[in-house]
Amino acid sequence: MPRRILVTSALPYANGAIHLGHLVEYIQTDIWVRFQKMRGHEAYYVCADDTHGTPIMLRAEQEGITPQQLIARVLEEHQRDFAGFHVGFDNYYSTDSPENRAFCEDIYAGLEREGLIARRPVEQFYDPVKEMFLPDRYIKGKCPKCGAADQYGDACEVCGSAYSPTDLVDPYSVVSGAKPVRRSSEHYFFRLSDSRCQRFLKEWTRSGALQPEAANKLDEWLAAGLQDWDISRDPPYFGFAIPGTGGKKFFYVWLDAPVGYFASFRNLCDKRTAAGAPLDPDAFLRPGGGTEMVHFIGKDILYFHALFWPAMLQFSGYRTPSSVNAHGFLTVNGEKMSKSRGTFITAESYLALGLNPEWLRYYYAAKLNATMEDIDLSLDDFVARVNSDLVGKYVNIASRAAGFIRQHFDGRLEPVADRERFAAEFPGILSGGGASAELFERREYGKALRLAMLGAEAVNQFFDQHQPWALAKDPTKHAELHHVCTSALNAFRLLTISLKPVLPKLAAEVEDFLAVPPLTWADAGTLLPAGHRVRPYRHLMARLERKQIDALVDANRESMAAPPSQQRHAEHQVHTAAKTVAEVAAKATPASAPKAPPSAAISIDDFAKLDLRVAKIVKAEHVEGADKLVKLTLDIGTETRTVFAGIKSAYDPAQLEGRLTVMVANLAPRKMRFGTSEGMILAASGEGPGVFLIGPDAGAVPGMKVK
Ligand code: 2FM
Ligand code: ZN
Repeated sequence: MPRRILVTSALPYANGAIHLGHLVEYIQTDIWVRFQKMRGHEAYYVCADDTHGTPIMLRAEQEGITPQQLIARVLEEHQRDFAGFHVGFDNYYSTDSPENRAFCEDIYAGLEREGLIARRPVEQFYDPVKEMFLPDRYIKGKCPKCGAADQYGDACEVCGSAYSPTDLVDPYSVVSGAKPVRRSSEHYFFRLSDSRCQRFLKEWTRSGALQPEAANKLDEWLAAGLQDWDISRDPPYFGFAIPGTGGKKFFYVWLDAPVGYFASFRNLCDKRTAAGAPLDPDAFLRPGGGTEMVHFIGKDILYFHALFWPAMLQFSGYRTPSSVNAHGFLTVNGEKMSKSRGTFITAESYLALGLNPEWLRYYYAAKLNATMEDIDLSLDDFVARVNSDLVGKYVNIASRAAGFIRQHFDGRLEPVADRERFAAEFPGILSGGGASAELFERREYGKALRLAMLGAEAVNQFFDQHQPWALAKDPTKHAELHHVCTSALNAFRLLTISLKPVLPKLAAEVEDFLAVPPLTWADAGTLLPAGHRVRPYRHLMARLERKQIDALVDANRESMAAPPSQQRHAEHQVHTAAKTVAEVAAKATPASAPKAPPSAAISIDDFAKLDLRVAKIVKAEHVEGADKLVKLTLDIGTETRTVFAGIKSAYDPAQLEGRLTVMVANLAPRKMRFGTSEGMILAASGEGPGVFLIGPDAGAVPGMKVK
């Protein structure tokens, strides 16, 4: 019987780039979904951007755009990155959607009907300048234990002690710098402490939905007793208003985030139904539909998915998860990812440098299992494993056999398909589909790939033993040559089935080479028909060179010159994986965190497109009515140009006349309110105040090219 499965990965925040840490989960989930589909099951993989909350609101403000503009931009970037790694969502959506609002309101109404919503005042730090309550991570001050300055509200990074924000000495708001005051306001709570919730969760924990280690963790949490969960936030807040509060209270982002799974699925159902292929949301979202709902998450958000989420669903009339699969964190070379070391690697940079996404998919899969253990991306091992397994063992089979088949047999396999003989040659490969399926089902991908690689080794040995290059020279041995190559290609096809969930693009190229329809698990245990004709072989996968990895790390290395505080922020932002529950709950990314990830590498040709010239500032004038601009007349040797430069905060026009600087001379002219700007001058700036004009050393003259 085909299973019907709704599968999700955690929704990434809409305020940051996808990095290799995120990809562990999306690749893990994608492999599982592709596997289920290959088994003939009906699986839907949905996800969305997690768009609400304080960090996104403040970040948009910082960038001078609306939160909606910010999340629309990030949505595109995320979708581009996921597609680049062949993560095949059936739907990718946003939590800032009408479907999500409707589900949140309905779930909330259900909980209220059950008497599971409580209201009571909470005292918190409030920023009197910014006029907002401050999440813990937006308050800093001196550590109450060791006195270290600029520590966050929850823990000291110098001495490691944990405390609450109200313990900080001389606290200040990270948003405005103001001294926060204590203020009380009414909050809404989900009454998890209610005995019905406790009873339900105790049972659910042992229902088989959780990994043993996760179930143990839950037992611990349950034994410690559950507190009511604060689900409201006061405005200003980017999110959904709680019905009946007149816009005075908003749902905390962690309430609406998992509901986003439902919203994305609902959106998919509506699209399918409109396209004439009806899909009933209730069969998946209400109890008793005979369907499964499977979540993949990082171990840092187990609390939300194994306590809050099932309880919310149970008491509002929805179905509960069939399983919650938590994975560990990603380390790189055995350490936390780090911007200064260049190991905080963005998905975008990986793709921009032309690295093959299937190398990473393979490596992650080879490391993944069903536990919550961390997985390490060891860069040397990555290079070695990809080259020895994928290129050296698997792809090598096709490249070795294909030439002979084309050259001597016009691309045709043997005229007989001798199953017994093949079974004797490769018993494990012919019958291996079942074992491999069982491993994929249990998320033991590492073991499944080891099985495939053992098979690939056997085929290479078989090849070596029969020495086809020698057989090819002797016309009386051509039947044997034909057989050896036919067996090798049959084995190659069967191995491709068990690699296809991991390497979907490569598998599609193999299907094309073998001239077969898309492989499914039903093809396991079968051989290609006698006399089948394959297409000419094109090389399937290049080797990964160590220098490509070095370039990747270089491209992601943030300048060591960055101020230390900024580097610390970077580390925070980076390690999504290493967040504590408290950090996640605070949902905070410091407002002053670096805005842009390091840019992806460009080619020398891209750089050569810039016509940079030494320019002499012959005239510098105030611009009437402009706050930031100075009007410059620049001599670039052959002509003069007018440029409006945003440097008024740092330079008095009078000081500028006679100075040399560098201008971009081939920038398309831009009409501005005060006139047309015919280029740009170069200046440096950082997170803090100050703009610093770039100038050449003595001896340069106007018009010289800068390269
Ligand atoms: O931890 C995170 O990155 C969250 N954005 C995950 C949300 S998962 C789900 F609940 F939406
Ligand atoms: Zn301290």
